[in-house]
Amino acid sequence: MGSNLVQILPAITMSRSLSTASSPMREGSVGAAKGKTFYLETFGCQMNVHDSEKVAGVLVARGYRPVKNPDDADLILYNTCSIREKAAQKVFSRLGAFRKRGGRDRIVGVLGCVAQQEGEAFFERAPQVNLVCGSASYSHLPALLERLESGQRRVTGLSLDADQCFETELTRRDNPFRAYVTIIEGCDKACSYCVVPQTRGAERSRPSSKILAECRRLADEGYTEIQLLGQTVNSYRDPSPAHLSFSELLIRVAEMPGVRRVRFTTSHPQDFTPEIVAAIDSHPSLCNHIHLPVQSGSNAVLRRMRRTYTREEYLEKIMCIRNARRAISVSTDIIVGFCGETERDFEETLSLLDNVGYDQVFSFKYSPRPKTAALVWGDSVPETEKGRRLEVLQQHQREIQLRRNQARVGKEFEVLVEGFQARLGQAVGRTTSNQIVNFPGESDLVGRYIRILVTGAGANSLVGVKAARSEVTREEQGAGA
Ligand code: 5AD
Ligand code: SF4
Repeated sequence: MGSNLVQILPAITMSRSLSTASSPMREGSVGAAKGKTFYLETFGCQMNVHDSEKVAGVLVARGYRPVKNPDDADLILYNTCSIREKAAQKVFSRLGAFRKRGGRDRIVGVLGCVAQQEGEAFFERAPQVNLVCGSASYSHLPALLERLESGQRRVTGLSLDADQCFETELTRRDNPFRAYVTIIEGCDKACSYCVVPQTRGAERSRPSSKILAECRRLADEGYTEIQLLGQTVNSYRDPSPAHLSFSELLIRVAEMPGVRRVRFTTSHPQDFTPEIVAAIDSHPSLCNHIHLPVQSGSNAVLRRMRRTYTREEYLEKIMCIRNARRAISVSTDIIVGFCGETERDFEETLSLLDNVGYDQVFSFKYSPRPKTAALVWGDSVPETEKGRRLEVLQQHQREIQLRRNQARVGKEFEVLVEGFQARLGQAVGRTTSNQIVNFPGESDLVGRYIRILVTGAGANSLVGVKAARSEVTREEQGAGA
């Protein structure tokens, strides 16, 4: 699934000017909130981050202006995550702190997965909240805002039966080089530990014609990296007459003039096909990195998790990736301490890490979630034991990563420069296989593609220097791993 970056993200900062194109969604009265301000804070996965970019676009079109401090806002929105208990609690601590501050009259809204999960009950738990809206109802946001602006105190958007994706050309993208593009929303899998099918609803794929039109527009605007998003991105099923398969869609985006990198996240092992690997092999602009969450190395645990594949079937998919001509890096998600997980099960997860040789692992302690199938099975592994297993797993993986990164020393890689730290005189870039590389550089490199010679390795990143001939053209790209 998609949310491998569960962390608090800063409130959206508006770095690009607003597109002038009109939106296909119902926008309500554009400019109706002229002079008003909003603060939007996002928790959770890339899907949430991108949803917030779309919501921000809708708000700006209504006349709202973004502010960095909630105290200065007429409208405060929290886009929430409920994948684990801790993530869900964050919004309640934000709301608690906010109630203590008191102050001016303003609208407070809760969006996303916690909103969907709590529903109307949110108003009882947090009486200062005026708007509760799940992601499947974002296309109704303009109408909901209109009701709030005209004085209604409590408004909800909680329907899960939307058969369409939330589409708007007003999106305010937060990164000037990399653009997220949703291709599929919701999830039809039924992993026993996971809230996503309840909070994001059933799978809905966008027509490929619309996806390709959006990518073409983004390339024209100067974005060079496109990241295709979906909770189970490779379960994509094109509802338009073109009926493109997921791998055909990847190829169409990869061949678009101006697009230099295409990433996609998150893939589900069940729907992972050799055609995806073949597409990466033949198209250098398809990044040679696949995020393929395994969750556990034990067949008994995988069965209880209802992951729909065995360890052996997962390893077959890995073999297909390893047999590719290009060296494709693989990352994964793992849950430790799922109910009933024995020491033996856990050891099988450790041995799977050795078998696969992941370049990155996102690991989590199992957190029982409301209304999931696993809830009734209890939470049999004590917290301290979950903590120990997590520590052991992370240490084991650090050693694997260090070895893999050390093997990259002395080689050259192309990076997209993503940032610059003036204090250190260091630039930071990312290889196509998703390794972070720090190297001496100036701020004017940001957004450019540079060839780097790797001179050192840590478990989580590489260090390097600009290669003798460092600027990379599109024609030369794609070498290395
Ligand atoms: N407890 C712990 N981790 C979870 N994840 C999903 N649900 C839970 C849960 N209840 C993890 C999975 C998923 C990642 C985004 O979050 O590893 O792939
Ligand atoms: Fe991913 Fe399974 Fe959750 Fe769907 S139900 S989002 S496949 S973990």
